[in-house]
Amino acid sequence: MSVRINDIVPDFKAETTEGLIGFYEWAGGDWVVLFSHPKDFTPVCTTELAALAQLQPEFAKRRCKIICLSVDTLADHQRWTPDVKAVGGAPLSYPLIADPDLRLAKLLDMLPADAGATARERTVANNATVRSVFVICPERRIRMMQTYPMNIGRNFDEVIRVLDALQMSTEYDVSTPANWRRGQDVIIPHGLTDAEAKQRYPGGFRTVTPYLRYVADPSER
Ligand code: BEZ
Repeated sequence: MSVRINDIVPDFKAETTEGLIGFYEWAGGDWVVLFSHPKDFTPVCTTELAALAQLQPEFAKRRCKIICLSVDTLADHQRWTPDVKAVGGAPLSYPLIADPDLRLAKLLDMLPADAGATARERTVANNATVRSVFVICPERRIRMMQTYPMNIGRNFDEVIRVLDALQMSTEYDVSTPANWRRGQDVIIPHGLTDAEAKQRYPGGFRTVTPYLRYVADPSER
């Protein structure tokens, strides 16, 4: 199955470090960051899980839950999680899915392109999931996806930035420019005429080109 932006994430059941969960029920009405990493007991992965454990309160403030998927076993996850706390200082505060038979990795299209079609063709290296990140909205759609290589750790501040931008664009029907951060001006949607924009933003807006018009962060009004 191929998974693309705006697809609905299928519901699934999974064994996790916090018990058996049904994804939809667990997510409830919140946003979700679902990320995979290639392997337990590896250096880059340990720093990533530690970074997210430290940042978890920032995601909680944004009504966003975190869940991680690894193709390793639950027993491996349980032996590994103390290392995550030792590295980052914060205990693992989100569930870690065990997926030793690759069922979810395949369902969510998280295996590398050279993984082959059957388990017989796979090696230990390409059995690992890629470093995927999905930001999923409360309507269960994938609103952002990133794929990183095995040896490069992700920037989770960027995931928070995108989450802020997605929540802003969903709530206020605006777009956000490059490197946007909360509090900065946002972009008026292309489909809105100037007359409609004047009605929607009586406080005024700034036109740079006919198709690039900025307005102050509407959440701060
Ligand atoms: C790492 O996290 O460092 C790693 C994971 C899988 C393969 C190689 C390195």
